[in-house]
Amino acid sequence: MAFQCRARKVNCFIMAFPTQRLRRLRATPTLRRMVRETILTPDDLIAPLFVENGRIVLEPISALPGQYRFSPDTAAEEASTLWHLGVPAVILFGIPDAKDATGCSAYDDNGPVPATIARIKDISPETCVIADVCACEYTDHGHCGILHETPTGVDVHNDKTLEVLQKAAVCYARAGADIIAPSDMMDGRVAAIRQALDAAGFSHIPILSYAAKFAGAFYGPFREAAGSTPSFGDRRSYQMDIGNRREALREMELDVEEGADALMVKPALFCLDILREARERFDLPLCAYNVSSEYAMIKAAGANGWIDEERLVDETLLSIKRAGADLIITYHAKEWAQRQ
Ligand code: PBG
Repeated sequence: MAFQCRARKVNCFIMAFPTQRLRRLRATPTLRRMVRETILTPDDLIAPLFVENGRIVLEPISALPGQYRFSPDTAAEEASTLWHLGVPAVILFGIPDAKDATGCSAYDDNGPVPATIARIKDISPETCVIADVCACEYTDHGHCGILHETPTGVDVHNDKTLEVLQKAAVCYARAGADIIAPSDMMDGRVAAIRQALDAAGFSHIPILSYAAKFAGAFYGPFREAAGSTPSFGDRRSYQMDIGNRREALREMELDVEEGADALMVKPALFCLDILREARERFDLPLCAYNVSSEYAMIKAAGANGWIDEERLVDETLLSIKRAGADLIITYHAKEWAQRQ
């Protein structure tokens, strides 16, 4: 048997010597540069910023080395620095002074997000400011909406939560946000937010929908940063099951029908297959969220000297773009842009 295989191989070598040698175009750095199909630029990146009220706050986040909680003034300086490094956009997450059961501080005009939007617009007016819209940072129970009793236990009430999201979206648009990005995973939120924005005179403000957002352990470091870990249960009755691909496409299809201007897949590295499929199916801009645990894993391994951190980051971001993302939300944005 072994003899037979070897014989066939030799035969093949003589009879059908490869006319295609893909290594020809890999021979030199110049050739490789010329035929590279995917190029990452700072234009592709969106930097997440955590903001709280106060002044000159720059508080390190332990599970996200290199990331900070900012106050509106320091966040605006950071956005301006990013702008000068070529990173055009930031996405804001608010940490309010007070939380309650309904998350009403999400639409407080004096909250950290509206204040930060205004400060950024003062000193870096061309920065694209994306406002994440969700209740979880603002509720005392850490869930992404208003709770109610159901026959099987306590759950998030979908339609009551839509009202909170509508108010938050309008509040951020009024403060000057350029894009509204709902991350709560309630059904019908894109249509509800679109309607509220239009009614308030913001029909020109786009919605970037976290359309396919999965439930899992991927968001741990973020929740530490934002203090948004649910005090009981988990998010599996509203975020998607990690095993589901077709359902992710249905989520995206519905959000397109409801009027989303751009779609997001989250988490990015765990969902490259979904991103690729979304790229083939939809012509809207596609965004991928390179989430907090994906960042923390690279940072931890890098700090231990187990990996070449810079190359890993380059390869991570390029892989996400190759899979189909036009835009990448990533905690690596600033460091990556600084290295270019
Ligand atoms: C709010 C929100 C979360 C993230 C983005 N928006 C947390 C969550 O869903 O629990 C996570 C981002 C990350 O892990 O970097 N709903």
